Amino acid sequence: MKKILITGGAGFIGSHVVRRFVNQYPNYHIYNLDALTYAGNLENLRDIEDATNYTFVKGDITDAVFLDDLLAENDFYGVIHLAAESHVDRSISDPLAFVVTNVIGTVNLLNAARKAWKDDLADHLFYHVSTDEVYGELHDPNEFFLETTSYDPRSPYSASKASSDHFVRAYHNTYKMPVVISNCSNNYGPNHFPEKLIPLMIHNIMQKKPLPVYGKGENVRDWLYVEDHARAIDTIFHDGQVGETYNIGGHNEWKNLDLVLLLCKIMDEKLGREAGSAESLITYVTDRAGHDLRYAIDATRLKTELGWEPSLQFEEGLTKTVDWYLNNQAWLDNVTSGNYKKYYEEMYG
Ligand code: NAD
Ligand code: DAU
Repeated sequence: MKKILITGGAGFIGSHVVRRFVNQYPNYHIYNLDALTYAGNLENLRDIEDATNYTFVKGDITDAVFLDDLLAENDFYGVIHLAAESHVDRSISDPLAFVVTNVIGTVNLLNAARKAWKDDLADHLFYHVSTDEVYGELHDPNEFFLETTSYDPRSPYSASKASSDHFVRAYHNTYKMPVVISNCSNNYGPNHFPEKLIPLMIHNIMQKKPLPVYGKGENVRDWLYVEDHARAIDTIFHDGQVGETYNIGGHNEWKNLDLVLLLCKIMDEKLGREAGSAESLITYVTDRAGHDLRYAIDATRLKTELGWEPSLQFEEGLTKTVDWYLNNQAWLDNVTSGNYKKYYEEMYG
């Protein structure tokens, strides 16, 4: 059985990646390493927690000694690295936390892999999961981010992710670490933490609370269903070329306000409320500092070279997502009340 280490597997995207690998690959043993920060929630993985090819490891990627020991003791074939601080607004109020986890944490993991794999480095793979935000913002509607677009990070979050990408490439060049990187656009779907736009709006509509739209709601994001991202990671992990970068995107651009209006319409119908009820909750609030105007990915390379394409139309994915939140109100209540922490803190400290 090949051992694979996935970091950040208790978070939003990581939990979908862990589930996919545990279910699709019985010949892999998946180790999920997660510090269970506010964003980590093992409830996301209840359905596979007893699988014989799954092990949870509580640990922090900022702890270099712990990582060195973990990788020395386990002969991991590969690492899929998702653990990160991921919320732009939090990076504006506490940039250093993003440097510590996203930059130092990634370098710790690279160092641990280098030490553990020194005798047969080429037989391993270090997969770094990154974001389209490293490319900065777009103004020309005909422009898209390519794998060759220059980096121009503009928030502390994207600066920390860009820095981690540079370290991963530097380790490939300097130490011949076999690496692959992917840069993905905005994800949405089940288990998305309700500090991010879509789950926050769903939660607030359910609770009849104000819907805070930053600025005029004119910023554009390119949305991808999270299971499509997990499938792309699977494809790149298995078929991607070492040393290369792959952009992943939904080809699905929405202005924030248009997206919120669509969500309001879907939610009013699902909740049996009068048309316009949710829309009346929209509140324009002070814009995010340094708010990037538009992100849009060109994922042609992934399609032509590895055959990956998004599978869901946005309205279908958004409806599936709304249904998931409506059917899993206990998950949302546990997250918003903080109760999700208590159970796992008793188990894992
Ligand atoms: P998330 O915030 O939902 O989850 C992050 C996970 O990492 C959590 O489980 C958390 O407990 C864990 N973690 C944080 N600090 C840690 C540490 N020091 N040690 C160990 N574990 C730690 O994030 P997400 O939205 O699922 O994003 C996952 C990855 O994908 C990130 O690297 C992010 O930059 C990238 N990404 C996210 C998106 C998106 O739209 N959410 C898009 C592109 C790329
Ligand atoms: O592009 C990929 C990135 O997408 C990931 O790397 C990040 O980890 C992920 O958090 C996401 O970043 P964004 O900043 O784009 O996502 P967020 O959900 O925070 O915001 C989406 C848009 O909605 C953005 O233009 C800001 C706006 N917004 C957000 C919130 C939370 C609002 O208008 N109101 C809100 O309350």
